[in-house]
Amino acid sequence: MHDILIRDAERSDFDDVMQVEKEAFGYEKEANLVSQLLEDESAEPIISLLAFKGDEAVGHILFTRATIDGNNGSPLIYLLAPLAIKPEYQRQGIGGMLINEGLRKLKANGAEMVFVLGHESYYPRYGFKQDAGSMGFAAPYPIPEEHAGAWMVYPLSSKAVNRIKGRVVCADALNKPEHWRE
Ligand SMILES: CC(C)(COP(=O)(O)OP(=O)(O)OC[C@H]1O[C@@H](n2cnc3c(N)ncnc32)[C@H](O)[C@@H]1OP(=O)(O)O)[C@@H](O)C(=O)NCCC(=O)NCCS
Repeated sequence: MHDILIRDAERSDFDDVMQVEKEAFGYEKEANLVSQLLEDESAEPIISLLAFKGDEAVGHILFTRATIDGNNGSPLIYLLAPLAIKPEYQRQGIGGMLINEGLRKLKANGAEMVFVLGHESYYPRYGFKQDAGSMGFAAPYPIPEEHAGAWMVYPLSSKAVNRIKGRVVCADALNKPEHWRE
């Protein structure tokens, strides 16, 4: 896709971000979550990216800071949530472009792992590994056994995955049970 531009979302892009989130999901829960996360100090440093087609914002992705429970020397790890593409622009590879650009930036910033709770048939296309729980990384809230595969990790460095294990603690705004039910 040569006509899609991806760049960091600025404060002045807030209305565009909200519009993408509301249209993609068809309700306001994710838009409200994003709005809270953008003000959440425990989520920093955040990576928030917008995809544009011409002047129109058509996709948004957010990565927020996370830690490993009880580990002061926790590696720099992130949660991907949410990813949103406006309905008429879905299935054109824009979600994948946002994921790849986010992972590239995170790696450049020294991040070591990225976690996501999401579609089991979608994120593995972009290198996420299913069932991070079985690799020693429990989700912030327990994931039912039948959805264990939906809790995934993208290792940006093989060292971190092997060096540290433990429960992932997410930013405060995400750290509520309603965000961890599929
Ligand atoms: C899920 C979503 C982010 C994917 O973005 P996208 O730009 O459409 O995805 P891509 O073009 O990179 O990849 C398309 C592939 O993803 C798959 N896909 C798209 N939506 C999917 C879904 N809801 N479940 C499973 N797979 C899905 C399709 O199989 C498609 O492949 P195909 O066209 O070969 O069949 C987008 O559809 C969306 O915003 N949906 C509504 C919000 C949402 O559910 N977000 C995810 C939160 S974890």
